[in-house]
Amino acid sequence: MATPFILINLKTYTEGFGHNAQKIAQSAERIAHENDVRIGLAPGYMDIHPLNVHYSLPVFAQHVDAVSPGAHTGHIVAEAVKAAGATGTLINHSERRLTLADVESAHTMARAAGLETVICTNNVATSGAAAFFSPDYIAIEPPELIGSGVSVSKADPEIIERSVEAVRSVRETVKVLTGAGISTGECVKTALDLGTDGVLLASGVVKAKDPEAVLRDLVSKI
Ligand code: G3P
Repeated sequence: MATPFILINLKTYTEGFGHNAQKIAQSAERIAHENDVRIGLAPGYMDIHPLNVHYSLPVFAQHVDAVSPGAHTGHIVAEAVKAAGATGTLINHSERRLTLADVESAHTMARAAGLETVICTNNVATSGAAAFFSPDYIAIEPPELIGSGVSVSKADPEIIERSVEAVRSVRETVKVLTGAGISTGECVKTALDLGTDGVLLASGVVKAKDPEAVLRDLVSKI
């Protein structure tokens, strides 16, 4: 199995931008260094550059648009997030959903820019469909459990197992992340036992009183 990947989406939480993003990055860098685990952050766009400059962590954009550089206004271009220091990007998060055609274009542009890609999906069928684009990771996140505090790895392990099957039947090499409601080392262990390669989470870390303690717990059972 590949090194487990813990990707923390800072979303637009107040607790996840500016100085707060830096504090989480500092803890994440320390814990990744002390353990055999890869920890990445997906901050807001304004924090991509500072996090990339000050910390040795994979930094992901939360979204890129299906547009190439040129005469577009208010869009996020894959090449620009790469230039700002992002090493990867989420695509099609449930809170930033795209059409299938736009998922394909955004993914192609992210790849062309040299970004690592995580396509988020909401069910087994979209997980299988996304596998045809050969992203690095597919993150399966049932929308009703996002931000709920109820872990998908406990509430709906079947969707994880069936997504892994759907993805692997299309592309053996695509890795899968478990997302929604993840907040403890037990959730991470279950996600790995279900055949996934790590987790995508947000509120469990970002909204915690002590994000570093949660990060330590997340890696404790790997
Ligand atoms: O991108 C991560 C996500 O949508 C899950 O959010 O708060 O349930 O960990 P959360």
